[in-house]
Amino acid sequence: MLCLKSDSKIEWVENALENLDQILVDHAHCERKAATFALSMTTRYPEKVSMVSKMIEIALEELEHFQLVHNYIVEKGIEFTKDSGNFFVQNLHTLISKQVPMRFLDSLLVGALIEARSCERFSQLAKHVQSSELQKFYSDLLASEAGHYTIYTDIAREYFPKETVKQRLEELALKEAEIVDLLENTATIHG
Ligand SMILES: [Fe+2]
Ligand SMILES: [Fe+2]
Repeated sequence: MLCLKSDSKIEWVENALENLDQILVDHAHCERKAATFALSMTTRYPEKVSMVSKMIEIALEELEHFQLVHNYIVEKGIEFTKDSGNFFVQNLHTLISKQVPMRFLDSLLVGALIEARSCERFSQLAKHVQSSELQKFYSDLLASEAGHYTIYTDIAREYFPKETVKQRLEELALKEAEIVDLLENTATIHG
């Protein structure tokens, strides 16, 4: 799916389905952090006008997703607990170059890869959950996250040569698959 080099393991799907409350709480935090990441790009690169406009759009949509997931949690009587951290995202961020201008490109492509993996995981959940309400919930969200993947990669091609973007995305996608392979399949969106 998208640029990803691997599918999630069945162990992750099974664990997620058995712990949907935990998945929902982690998911709400992921949406909040996706909004924060988009906003952080506007802080770091305010001079990139087109990018800033698109990041504001993404941040608004991610905040709406946060609200949607949080509302669902409250409605179902699930306790919203503290963020337990995200090994996957933390590791992806270590791949971002410290050099200018590659740091900007890598930040966009890491953003794209997180969207792509979220999308893949939502598609697994949409396919396997029993509740038709949750099937629709995850299907709607995966379409939106796929759109965000496209926005991040389109911005990268706006500021860098297409071939540079293609090559670096390929390198980072291979490393992303290695990180996913190390995951312990815990009941979190990127577990
Ligand atoms: Fe989202
Ligand atoms: Fe997103």
